[in-house]
Amino acid sequence: MGFSTIAIHAGQEPDPTTGAVTVPIYQTSTYAQEGLGRHKGFEYARTHNPTRLALERNIAALEGARFGYAFASGMAAIDATLRLVKAGEHVIVSDNTYGGTFRLFSRILANYQIEFTYVDTSDASNVEAAMRENTRMVFVETPTNPVMIITDLQAVSDVAHRAGAIVVCDNTFMSPYLQRPMEFGVDIVVHSTTKYLNGHSDGVGGIAVLNDEKNAEWLAFVQNGVGAILSPFDSWLVLRGTKTLALRMEQHDTAGRAVAAFLEEHPKVEKIYYPGSLSHRQHDLAKRQQRGFGGMVAFDVGSLERARTVLESVRLCTLAESLGGVESLISHPATMTHASVLPETRARLGITEGLVRISVGLEDIDDILADLDQALNRI
Ligand SMILES: Cc1ncc(COP(=O)(O)O)c(C=O)c1O
Repeated sequence: MGFSTIAIHAGQEPDPTTGAVTVPIYQTSTYAQEGLGRHKGFEYARTHNPTRLALERNIAALEGARFGYAFASGMAAIDATLRLVKAGEHVIVSDNTYGGTFRLFSRILANYQIEFTYVDTSDASNVEAAMRENTRMVFVETPTNPVMIITDLQAVSDVAHRAGAIVVCDNTFMSPYLQRPMEFGVDIVVHSTTKYLNGHSDGVGGIAVLNDEKNAEWLAFVQNGVGAILSPFDSWLVLRGTKTLALRMEQHDTAGRAVAAFLEEHPKVEKIYYPGSLSHRQHDLAKRQQRGFGGMVAFDVGSLERARTVLESVRLCTLAESLGGVESLISHPATMTHASVLPETRARLGITEGLVRISVGLEDIDDILADLDQALNRI
């Protein structure tokens, strides 16, 4: 079946008690049991909730996975996934992951005898060179936030699997509509559902999906044992979001291309970062691995002062962190999303003080372009 058919139906049967077409928000903490050890498969809502289960099945189906586990945030999903790694083991990580992921790994998990090596995963030979006897996991984000570096998922999966490691991909920027990492050998896909999957900037959440039964059992155990679950209401919001994911991503992609083309020609813009641009050094790989290029565009205007002028002059775009919602959001990675990344790493990656990132929303494209134009012309 096609993507939208799966998005609208997977995991979602009309409610067995009332026939409600939409999965209800099962706002309950516990479930009546018929007798000792006799129940309908639901005992306590940290362990199981029908609304969350519907969402987990839905997103697993969209990614082509068998199992899914939803968490209270993208970070909670990533943290749970890292519980597959034990003390004494080693993880290789894309060197420009989302700042919060870097913070979780370097400031929290590194305290528990897990070793992390950060490499440029856009070249699979860097991953190969960083492999150790005890490497358990390779964690990649592609395209990376905000400078849109692409990792060749098949090449990295081949290297990792040869060495006995599993591959995790943060697919938040693309969503399963634009990229399905498991088709390229990835073992576990994680998302901040806060972004495109929810799509309306009204809930924080995360999910991990996978095929391996043993690892899935452990993730379910961690989900229940640690308890960082997604609430029934937030699960319902994301389920509502995925129904229109294909339509929304098509438009984010169309608008993203238009914004990138406009910025590329603008005299006040020094550089743009967009995998759909012919000037992007990995344009061909992006074309091969992704169904489109998405709505995230970053551009450099040369200095903090110039970036400030743009960020404080926009009228339609909202100055805010986050991405993937219906409204266009604009941000300053160096001081906002990537403030926790080491300054020398930021400099090496091109996350300069003049860099501005836009999450192109679903407003009329002409209005978005006019807003950016008037803000840039104030420089
Ligand atoms: C690529 C990526 N991964 C993970 C996260 C973390 O997700 P959350 O904010 O839902 O915890 C974010 C948040 O911005 C992100 O952009």
